[in-house]
Amino acid sequence: MVLGSGLGDLANEVEALCTIDYADIPDFPVSTAPGHEGRFVFTNIGGKNVVIMQGRVHLYEGYSAKQVAAPVRLMKKMGAKKLLLTNAAGGINSSFNVGDLMVITDHISSFVESPLVGENDDELGPRFPDMSQVYSPDLISKVAKNAENGNINLKYGVYLQFRGPNFETPAEIRMARALGADAVGMSTAIEAQAAKHCGFEVCAISVISNLASGISKTPITSKEVNETANRIAPIFKNLILKSVGEF
Ligand code: HPA
Repeated sequence: MVLGSGLGDLANEVEALCTIDYADIPDFPVSTAPGHEGRFVFTNIGGKNVVIMQGRVHLYEGYSAKQVAAPVRLMKKMGAKKLLLTNAAGGINSSFNVGDLMVITDHISSFVESPLVGENDDELGPRFPDMSQVYSPDLISKVAKNAENGNINLKYGVYLQFRGPNFETPAEIRMARALGADAVGMSTAIEAQAAKHCGFEVCAISVISNLASGISKTPITSKEVNETANRIAPIFKNLILKSVGEF
């Protein structure tokens, strides 16, 4: 599980069987983003062994797509089979409200470097991996069932990853909308790409932390992003803990 901006507290509420700071792992990329703790937390949720990344690394921190994807590959090597990615995202779809949860049904990663460029490790996955179904319908249906039981009006949509660190211009958001994006952010698609390549079943959920540039009536700030994520965190936490127990 990868916890995004403002969502890291979830890892403080589970019983940590062991924690490892990224900084203590040789050559491991270290999170510098606010609200990203930077450690692995090993726990058990509903009888499932779970490793949580409390904080991730991003392209905008100066890391390459390969470095951003390295923790996903490491979790694969640890034996993980299913990956839940979370993030805070700007809402583009006009039916979305701040505070909504959006299950990612597909993504657009064409604006960022691919983690799969360079020599392929055939033991990890194929040179030319299929991306026609990155997000697992089975995992999505488990999340959908738990959302329904919890009276959460779950949204669905396409996530577009930009490099950041600046938020977008209104023109960029109009472009993203024209391309079919429902939400934008600065993470997740690269990790999902690497995860699909190495055989993970992938699920991803965005907290719509703000309306995207030009749609929002006020300038976008990371304070707003983190505040919304913190506010929604209890609802999100329940949904995730229930769902991951069934993954
Ligand atoms: N744009 C990009 N990334 C984001 C946004 C946004 O509006 N909100 C949260 N992460």
